[in-house]
Formats: sequence, C-alpha cells, structure tokens
Amino acid sequence: MSRIPQHFIDEIVARTDIVDVITSRVPLKKAGREFKACCPFHDEKTPSFTVSPDKQFYHCFGCGAHGTAVGFLLEYERLSFVEAIEELAGRLGMEVPREKSDQPRPSDDLYDLLARADRYFREQLRGNAAAIGYLKGRGVVGEVAARFGIGYAPASWDGLLKHLGGDVGRALAAGLVIARDDGSGHYDRFRGRIMFPIRDHRGRTVAFGGRAMEDKGPKYLNSPETEVFHKGRELYGLYEARQSRDDLSRILVVEGYMDVVGLAQYGINNCVATLGTATTPDHLSRLFRIARDVVFCFDGDRAGRAAAWRALRVSLGQIRDGRQVRFLFVPEGEDPDSLVRNEGADAFRARLDEAVPLSEFLIEHLRSETDTASLDGRARLAELARPLVAQVPEGVYRDMLTERLAQEVGLPGERLARHLPKAEPAVPRRPARAAASGARPPLVRQCIALLLKHPSSAADANVPDGMERWTTPGVDILTTLLEQLAREPHLTTAGVLERWRSHEHFRHLEQLASGESLINEAQAATELIGLIGRLSDQERARRRNALLEKSAERPLDEEELRELNALLASRVSNNDTD
Ligand code: CTP
Ligand code: MN
Repeated sequence: MSRIPQHFIDEIVARTDIVDVITSRVPLKKAGREFKACCPFHDEKTPSFTVSPDKQFYHCFGCGAHGTAVGFLLEYERLSFVEAIEELAGRLGMEVPREKSDQPRPSDDLYDLLARADRYFREQLRGNAAAIGYLKGRGVVGEVAARFGIGYAPASWDGLLKHLGGDVGRALAAGLVIARDDGSGHYDRFRGRIMFPIRDHRGRTVAFGGRAMEDKGPKYLNSPETEVFHKGRELYGLYEARQSRDDLSRILVVEGYMDVVGLAQYGINNCVATLGTATTPDHLSRLFRIARDVVFCFDGDRAGRAAAWRALRVSLGQIRDGRQVRFLFVPEGEDPDSLVRNEGADAFRARLDEAVPLSEFLIEHLRSETDTASLDGRARLAELARPLVAQVPEGVYRDMLTERLAQEVGLPGERLARHLPKAEPAVPRRPARAAASGARPPLVRQCIALLLKHPSSAADANVPDGMERWTTPGVDILTTLLEQLAREPHLTTAGVLERWRSHEHFRHLEQLASGESLINEAQAATELIGLIGRLSDQERARRRNALLEKSAERPLDEEELRELNALLASRVSNNDTD
C-alpha cells in the first residue's frame, strides 16, 4: 500500500464537517454557535463535550479530550490514520487515490499465505479434542479463543505445507516451514502446538507463537522475523484490545501470550504482550499513540526487576507531560494469568491502580545501589540519576522528576537542575506552572495558540524581517504557521492542525488549539499584531544582551558593532524579556 497524497488529505479535511462525523456516533445538541453532548471519553451526567463547527475541533471541558475529526476517529473508533482518512473519504463519496503499481507486492502474497495458515490452524483446533481440552483446562472459553483466533498445529511433519499446496518458497519466506539440514526437503515449523496468531494494526496475521501442550521441547516457538513481521514493532494483543472498544487510556504490558488471553477471559482487555523480547522504543511510541498510562507488569523476582529496569530506561525518552509509565510487580510464583484467576478481576484492577510510578521505581532502584544514609551516598545517587534524567524531554514531567530527586538527595531542586544538562525545548511548555503563578505563558506560545484558535487572524499580521532567524524557542514553528496561513488563509483550526500531525510537537499544538477563546476574530487579529510586536522587542533585547555579553569577552567585529548600535539606538526596553 502506498502513501496517500497530502493534497488529498488536505481536501478531505477541508470538506469534512466534524459535526456530521461526530453526531452520527455521539448525538450532538446545538448550543449557541457550538454543539454539545455528554463526553464519550469519560463518564459524566452534564454535557461538557463541545464541538466547534468554526474550528472544526472538539474539546471536552471535563476530561480535556480534544482533536479534529480525524483525531476523533482515531480515538473513538480506534482507527489507524489511513483508516480514518478512508472512512472520511467514504462519507464524501471519494476514493482514496494511491500510486498504482500493477504487480502485487511480494508482501501481499505473504499476508495471503499467513491468512490461509491461520484458517488452517483454526480448523485443526475444531477437530482436536486434546487441544480443546488443553485450552479448557487453562480456563479459555470458546468465545475468547475465537476472538484471539487461537488454533492448533497438528503433530504431523507437513500438514500445513501440504495444505498450502507445497508452496515451499513462500512458506519459507513466511517463516512457516524449515529446510531439512540434509537438504532433503522441508517440514512444518509448528507441530503439535496451540497456535496464537500475531496480528498487525490492521488485523492481518503476520506471525505465530506456538505453545507446546506437554513439557517436551521448548515451551514456545515463534515465527522468525520476516518481511512482514518485526518483533520489535508488533505487540501481541494490541489489535484485539482495540477491537474490544474498552477504554485504552491505560494499557498493561505483560510478558506472555497466555497472560493477555487469561486477562481477556476476565474482561481485562487493555493488555498487550511483547513477543519474548524486551520492550523497544517503537513499542512504546505505538502504545503512547493510544494510551496515556502504560503499566508494565513483571515478576517481582530479580529477573523481573531487571527487566523492569530495562523497560524504564527505554521509557525515559518518551515520558513527558500527560504521559505516565508505571510498574506492577506480581508476587513470586505468579504471573498475571494465574493472578487474575486466583484473585479475580477486581483485585487485579486494584493492583493496577496501585502500580508504582516510574519516578518512584527509579528512585527505589537507585537507592538500592547507594547508601542514602550518608552524604556521599546521596551525592552518588544524584550522580547516577543525572544521565537518566537527561533522557527525559524537557517539560513539566522532567521538572517534577528533578524535584522528586532533589527531595531524595536533600538538595534544592534549582541546584540539582543546574547539575542536569539543559536543552531548550522547541516549543516552550509548562502550562501548569504558568497558570498556578498567574504568569502569562511565553509570547511565542501565546502567538501559536492564538493562530491555531483563530487562523484568520494571520491575514493582518506583518511578519517581521528575518523572523525565521530569531532564536526564541518555538519561533520556527510560529514562522511556519504564519507562512502556511499566508498561503492558505481560509484554513480552519483542524485544517491547520492536520498538516502538523506527523510533527514531533503535534500533541502539544493540538493542546494549544483546544480550550476556550474569549475573543472574536477581529480582536484576535489585533491581539496577534500586539503579540508579534512584543515578541520582536523581546528578540531584539535578547540579541542586544547577547552582543553585550560577547563584547565583554572579546572585541566585536564591525558587523556586530553596527548591529549593536542599531539595537541600542532603538532603545529596546530592558525588562521585556518575558
Ligand atoms: N517465550 C518464548 N519462548 C520460550 C518461553 C517464553 O518465546 N521458550 C515468550 C513467549 O512470548 C511467552 C513469554 O515469553 O508468552 C512469556 O513466557 P511465559 O511466562 O513462560 O509464558 P506464558 O505466556 O505465561 O505461558 P504459560 O502460562 O502457558 O506458561
Ligand atoms: Mn503463564
């Protein structure tokens, strides 16, 4: 499948009415210029879910959920981006264009072959009393087995290969057969095993895990990496979890296939398993596209804690405001599957609620490696924490983690922060703090928020010369936005946002676009001119101070001197440095 051209996405977004899209799923009532309903993303009795036809954007004042029509389909229907575009195109009676290629791609063949193998294993399960008995014995009912497509590979050397009509080449490429060492032919990889199909985000079977029914040979066999299967990307159970329509704002990551299936048996559907490998950054970013709260579940023993520490290290780079990573350790001798069976779903959920936040696990782990009773030990702890905290993107979360560490070490947060490496965030954030202290957010952020909420205000703004060279964090985004709106002045909030969906700060931009605006279009335009003016002053002050500082170190060259003189002559106010 090829990429959907951006111009087509733009057109779909421009022609879609978010009110239609949402009201066919969540009936909306008109309220002034906007539409309201009880929020589909949290429990409530009075409507705080608001849809704005002007902005083509929804926002819930209760739980903070927000987004465009595309975003709504991603959240509510759990569609992938491509599926969401297909859905919207379908409503408009439009066909999604794709770069046509005449030959089917080789991978299409593999999917097809895997689907046939999948059906074969399921048929085989139906006729095999021992395999059905094994699953029953483990408490898996037919409905759950069907939902996960569990099957059975018969105990013959070539049952599958024969079924596939002896198509050795493709069966090898799909990882379903193995070549005999002596070169005398091929045999089925999976024999006499309970089969767990591993499905990708579109529900296509890309690989299998096979569990032995007896204590003989390896307990699990898995498909090798193939053209369509990469262990480091797929998560067992993710497709099924999305199909369940349960709330996936929290996702539990367990170790085993049977853990996922066992928990689903108890109505706990928000679970996935890694495929016998450690969690990868790719896994995590997939999860965070769906969930805000990722809970890793590991054994409480040494090996489990070591695995949890690895998962923590992988998480650091991805944790930030609004995201949570937590750890749940199961008692020794248990796994999530046995635990839910012994204690029931409610007790298991209660354990989930009490999972340890990343910050606490981090400190606990570092404490176990140092003697925090002594000053030296505490300094050592700070030393160990430094490279870890440095991996956390700057923002509220990192600040909080620094504060928490400071508490632990007995250093004021400010001082500890000075020991941590600093990187300027591309978009200044820290809304919580600004709101708490009553301070106004940075000018760049105010400008961006205003533009997103009132895209038409850009029309009257004068973009100062050389703005793209300004060094205030976030100015790059602001300039791009202004250029975009100069080219396409009629974009709605959603129309602008959809062009930023793959940008690393998309979530943050989406956040800035949400929330109420108390001013009208004309006021917004005036406000924007004022903000850009102040930003310009601020930038000049920054530049002037930088030049003054430089001049204290070495004589300025001619050009710098000229620039400094000009800046001093225009008497930029000293205190407007925000
Ligand atoms: N695994 C594997 N190869 C093995 C053992 C385990 O690939 N020989 C992987 C599988 O993905 C398995 C996971 O590690 O699901 C966790 O192993 P384990 O806890 O032993 O499996 P469970 O899923 O709990 O299976 P069961 O309850 O049937 O023992
Ligand atoms: Mn188990």
